[in-house]
Amino acid sequence: DPEAAADDFRHRIKHYEKTYEQVGDDEGGYIRRVDAGARVEVNQLQGYLPSRLVSFLMNLHLSERLIWLTRHGESIYNISGRIGGDPDLAPRGERFARSLAAFVHQRTGHANGIAVWTSSLKRTVRTAVALERPSLPWRALDEIDAGVCDGMTYDEIHTAMPDEYAARARDKFRYRYPRGESYQDVIQRLDPVILELERQQCSVLVIAHQAVLRALYAYFTELPAEDCPFLPVPMHTVIELRPHAYGCDERRIPLAPLLEQ
Ligand code: F6P
Repeated sequence: DPEAAADDFRHRIKHYEKTYEQVGDDEGGYIRRVDAGARVEVNQLQGYLPSRLVSFLMNLHLSERLIWLTRHGESIYNISGRIGGDPDLAPRGERFARSLAAFVHQRTGHANGIAVWTSSLKRTVRTAVALERPSLPWRALDEIDAGVCDGMTYDEIHTAMPDEYAARARDKFRYRYPRGESYQDVIQRLDPVILELERQQCSVLVIAHQAVLRALYAYFTELPAEDCPFLPVPMHTVIELRPHAYGCDERRIPLAPLLEQ
């Protein structure tokens, strides 16, 4: 009953009012969100992190939406076990792109009620083509830069650069490929993507890469950053996240069986 629900809600606010103490302007720095962010007040804030927090808090909202994370379809490098590069999709990857399009159409209809984001690399852009919707290519969503190891297999790295291989095995989170990136670097460059994901009120489909999606997934599911390099993000699977006030519901939808249809 809507009236009973509204009464219950007002009653709840009365309870909050009993214990709520308004912070005073002379009590130091604060950020206050009023009426679920309709107004944001900032008092005595200084420094990089507090100002980042202001824009973060300004972009939070309570609208229901979904975030779908998926890796690109299988690429020719996936088949040969090579990392990085800018390879084309393999035939199975093209078929996944069509399964993904069928899934998205079935879940959202043909309306443009969903934003589609890719990296700037061919394999994610091509995966989005079958969706027949506009998509936004982000450089920040590109796969971890493997630097001098780009295009190699893990075995080739092991043989040609055993010290690098061992260093990565020791600390996969902090290890930075020579002239490339570490997981820590990837997390830093995802900062604007995360802010924009928080801001979006419509559902978003992110078609990206293993390392980048591990980082986004860890953020939304509140896992420690250092766990990122080991999180399972299988191919040909959509990870559906439904953010809510105190966390995120998750569902994994493998689309591989559709390939056979
Ligand atoms: O193998 C696919 C891939 O996306 C590579 O391009 C990338 O270097 C790798 O996964 C990242 O995973 P890991 O950090 O486990 O090597």
